[in-house]
Amino acid sequence: MNKVLIINASVRNEKSHSRKLTQLFVENWKKNKPQDKFTYREVGLEHIPPIDEKWIASAFIKPQDRTEENQSGVKFSDQLVKEFKEHNIYVIGTPMYNWSIPSGLKSYIDQLMRINETWKFRSGEPDGDYVGLLKNKKLFILSSRGDTGYGANEKNEHMNFQTKYLKFVFGIMGVKDSSIISLDNEEFGGEIFENSKKEIYRKIEQIQ
Ligand SMILES: Cc1cc2nc3c(=O)[nH]c(=O)nc-3n(C[C@H](O)[C@H](O)[C@H](O)COP(=O)(O)O)c2cc1C
Repeated sequence: MNKVLIINASVRNEKSHSRKLTQLFVENWKKNKPQDKFTYREVGLEHIPPIDEKWIASAFIKPQDRTEENQSGVKFSDQLVKEFKEHNIYVIGTPMYNWSIPSGLKSYIDQLMRINETWKFRSGEPDGDYVGLLKNKKLFILSSRGDTGYGANEKNEHMNFQTKYLKFVFGIMGVKDSSIISLDNEEFGGEIFENSKKEIYRKIEQIQ
């Protein structure tokens, strides 16, 4: 049985296209694997606190030196990390905002990027060699964007700090198996966008 974590990042609710993508994903996945369990982690409509000085003071304490008191800055982060580790399939539904990701999703990632919990330095000391601590996980990145041409060798590839960043940063945590499906053209509307929706919905329905 898989445990599927759905992470929605749009600050829109009913009108959000990325939410529609994760909803379609869930409907399709349930048909193929009815026994699987789903959890929703909302990072767009609910406030995920940005990391702060207290967080940093707690996060970088070596496991053997940790006390309840000096770990107080990472209490919520601990919950998010635990939830993340307990699941094996991740589905991120996210808009592109200003060529990057929404701030709620960035805060969530900052909360998850915990040294010696989700990643470590290979030697145990800063050595520039990052080792992901998560194993056997799969990530689906379902994104929605106003413009288009953000893919490999396309005209706006250099502006894509959204899906490229997500693939990279979750890879650092060890989530190496990731697929990206992007619904583009929202800002153009009309037939162009309708055709993009049809194509992308079909791609999501083909996920096994
Ligand atoms: C604040 C803001 C910034 C945006 N920045 C970009 C952008 O840099 N590039 C782009 O292609 N689309 C951009 N868009 C368009 C959104 O990516 C698009 O509307 C997407 O469908 C939003 O996701 P949602 O429908 O799930 O809310 C932006 C939209 C908003 C509201």
